[in-house]
Amino acid sequence: MLRDTLKTLLAAYGPTGSEHAVAEAVKGLLEGHVDSMHTDHMGNLIVEKFGSDPDGRRVMFSAHMDHIGLVVTNIEKEGFLRVSNVGGISPAYAWRRKVVFGDGTPGVCVVEPNPKDNSQPGLEHLFIDIGAESREEAEKMVQIGDIAVYAPDFIPLGKHRVASPAMDDRCACALLVEMLLYAEDQKNTIVGVFSTQEEVGLRGAGVAAFNSQPDVGLALDVTAWGDTPEVKYPAVKLGQGPAVKIMDRSMIASPSVREALFEAALAAGVQVQREVLAYGGTDGGAIQTSRGGVPTGTLSIPCRYVHSAVETIDMRDMEGALKVLLQFIDRV
Ligand code: CO
Ligand code: ZN
Repeated sequence: MLRDTLKTLLAAYGPTGSEHAVAEAVKGLLEGHVDSMHTDHMGNLIVEKFGSDPDGRRVMFSAHMDHIGLVVTNIEKEGFLRVSNVGGISPAYAWRRKVVFGDGTPGVCVVEPNPKDNSQPGLEHLFIDIGAESREEAEKMVQIGDIAVYAPDFIPLGKHRVASPAMDDRCACALLVEMLLYAEDQKNTIVGVFSTQEEVGLRGAGVAAFNSQPDVGLALDVTAWGDTPEVKYPAVKLGQGPAVKIMDRSMIASPSVREALFEAALAAGVQVQREVLAYGGTDGGAIQTSRGGVPTGTLSIPCRYVHSAVETIDMRDMEGALKVLLQFIDRV
C-alpha cells in the first residue's frame, strides 16, 4: 500500500550524504520483487526489473532519498551547537523545530534574538540546544560534522492529505517502490534509481545515469504549489493530479518524454497538470545531460511548504501518479 510504504520511508534518517538507512528500508520492501539490486560508490541504490522484449529500452526512474539537514560546524563552550545548511534550509522554517541526529539524539533548533533590526535571521543566528551544559558534555553526544534533520513525523490532514518532513522526496521513493512492485510483463527494462545528494546539486543521479546507460530518463520529485493564501504561482494545485514538468532551472523536458507522459495519463484516465517552475531542479537535469544526452522528463507531486517540516501532499495525486507511471513504462 502506497500510504504504508510512504510512512515507512518517511521514518528513516537520511540527510544528504547519509542516505544509508533509507536505502536499507527500500531494500527491505523490494527484496524478492526485482531482478537486480546494487549500491554504487555514491550510495545510490539501483534496482532493475527486466523487460520481456530483448530489444526493449532501458527506462531510468530516479527518486532521491536524501533530505535537507543542519550540519554541526562548531560547539560553543556553553554546549550549544552552531550549524550550517546541507541543502536548502530556510532559517525562518528551522527555528523552534525539533531536530534529531543519526543516533537518535534529539535537539531543538532556536534562533538568537535579533533586536537591532527586523531583518530575517540568517543561518549564522541559528543554534541547536541538545540540553548539554558544557562543550565537554555536548561532545559526548554530538561531533562536528554530524547532521540533524527535522524530527520524523506523519500528520494526516483532512481526508486525503499528509504533512511530514522529508516528503521531498520520500513520497517519490514510495511511488517508485510501488511502481516496481506493481509493474508486470512490461516490455522495457525498468532501472529504478534511489538517488543520493540531490539537494546539493543532483550529484547521485548524474553518476547513476552515467553508469546505467538508460535510453530514457524520468525524475520523480515534488514541485511547488500555488493554492494557499497569497501564493498563486506556480499554477499547480494539490489534489488536481500529478504535474508534467515543462521546465525548471535544471532542465527543459525532452518533448518526446513529456508527450509520452501526457499519453500515459490519458490512457490511465488520470488528470495531470502542466508545470513550469521558475526555480529549482530535479535529478532530471543530471540525467538529461549524462554521456551523449538522454531524453528525459519529470513527473512531479504537488507539495505545499517544500523544505519545511510540514511538507504537505495529497494522496490522490500519488495514486494518480502511480497509474500514469505504469502506463508510461512501455510508451517511450
Ligand atoms: Co528538495
Ligand atoms: Zn526533491
